[in-house]
Amino acid sequence: MSIMFITLEGPEGAGKTTQLRALAGFLRDCGYDVVTTREPGGTPIGDQIRHVLHDTANTAMSPTAEMLLYAASRAQLVAEVIRPALAAGRVVLCDRYADSTLAYQGFGRGLDADMLATLTAIATGGLRPDLTLLLDLDVARGLARRRDEGEEMNRLDLETLEFHRRVREGYLALAAAEPARWVCIDADRPGDEVQVDVRRAALKRLEV
Ligand code: TMP
Repeated sequence: MSIMFITLEGPEGAGKTTQLRALAGFLRDCGYDVVTTREPGGTPIGDQIRHVLHDTANTAMSPTAEMLLYAASRAQLVAEVIRPALAAGRVVLCDRYADSTLAYQGFGRGLDADMLATLTAIATGGLRPDLTLLLDLDVARGLARRRDEGEEMNRLDLETLEFHRRVREGYLALAAAEPARWVCIDADRPGDEVQVDVRRAALKRLEV
């Protein structure tokens, strides 16, 4: 059981949170000791940062400030939750991680990829996921799903369709560049069908 840090990524409305919860339950039933967490947030300090980041009143936030706040939340999560859990031999499932910064602040906002890679290395101390599941779907479908399900819209949900399209293309490019870490899953299907693929991908790596 060498693979222990699994992240879920994807554009808005891909169902990551539901899928992560179901995967955690399944892995626990299989006997794994599982910790679930999310970004931004996952710690008391990170949750305060999340509030600032998602507040739709904060339209004045600069892309650089946004980038640093996500990184600050991540640094706290790695130090307080992820590293201790991995050190204890637990499986960590995280709803978004550093690839969200590359996709949203890099491809979405147009910030420099090398700078983001340096910042990410500082925030994480170089800790990278063993497996990243990309729940992929058309961005208009995803945003409509969120609206239909009455989910709270955050500051980034209010960005243009073009922004979200760049984010999705960014994810696909990141996955294509590192196929050994990423598994791309079609999320435009009923949740139980998506979960079958999610479980299969996780078990395949955990049982190596
Ligand atoms: P979610 O918890 O509903 O997925 O919302 C998180 C939002 O924050 C989502 O719009 C993606 C965005 N985000 C970034 O822009 N950069 C990041 O590094 C992270 C972790 C999230």
